[in-house]
Amino acid sequence: MKLSIIGAGNVGSSCAAIVTQMNSIDEIVLLDVKPGFAEAKAQDISELGVLLGSKTVVTGVTDKYECTKDSDVVVITSGIPRKDGMSRDDLLKTNAKIVKTVVKSVMKHSDPIIIVASNPVNSMTFIAQKFSKLGAFKVFGLAGLLDGTRFRREVANQLNCLVTEVEGTVIGEHGDTMVPILYPPKTMKEDVRSLTTAKTRSTGADLTRALGTSAYFGPGAALARMIQSIVKDENKVYSVCTYLEGEFGLSDVCLSVPCELGRDGINRIVEIKLSHEELRLLRKSSEKVSIQMKDALELLR
Ligand code: 2OP
Repeated sequence: MKLSIIGAGNVGSSCAAIVTQMNSIDEIVLLDVKPGFAEAKAQDISELGVLLGSKTVVTGVTDKYECTKDSDVVVITSGIPRKDGMSRDDLLKTNAKIVKTVVKSVMKHSDPIIIVASNPVNSMTFIAQKFSKLGAFKVFGLAGLLDGTRFRREVANQLNCLVTEVEGTVIGEHGDTMVPILYPPKTMKEDVRSLTTAKTRSTGADLTRALGTSAYFGPGAALARMIQSIVKDENKVYSVCTYLEGEFGLSDVCLSVPCELGRDGINRIVEIKLSHEELRLLRKSSEKVSIQMKDALELLR
């Protein structure tokens, strides 16, 4: 199996390092536009691979899309990450054009599954789907698996239990309108519930403030988990951002929802039962993302 990662920055190289450690991919091509940068990252990760006994061959290239030829999976992390004080939405204008260009270059050499990590990821996933002309089930974005992990950690902190004892996820926008879901609905005092929701929504910004750039180990690991489910055909159910066509009563919008991930990408969307309040919040998230998707298309006209 061949994985190409476009963008050798923090998220892309963290993903490459973690996938190398998981030892389930034959070849990783790391591509960046900055001369020599992906090559250096690839060498560094290759040394990690040797030390940890991985068979994965990691190569870095500078803007040579022909080296991504016949990739089974392509991860797109291209674009600028946010800085302190920026929302993910602030990245739309810059990243929409970059993602469109990258997708067109990728599609000249492969017929891949595409995973989008560039923000704002809901709209970037839509751009990638539109310009790759791949079906919705082959193009999806990193969102709810990462947010859901943050949510479960927060709930575990509040309830003083192990994260593994907390079943839950996050659906909707990878942003301020994201909708944390606990299942089975745990009895939780309203103030604790709203605290965990607020904290989950702000974690990305909190980490960016402290790190000076957006987080990368968590996003890298979430991408690696999604890739693992695909290449090993594990059919794991993760919340990923994809194009809805009637699921949860919503259409023509890219939202994070539970999806079963296998060798061909998304096998199916799992329409979990939502409460009226959860459905209301998901609709609110959908309204915001739909507007942003239209803005993204306008920018590319
Ligand atoms: C995050 O929330 C990078 O959007 C990603 O950390």
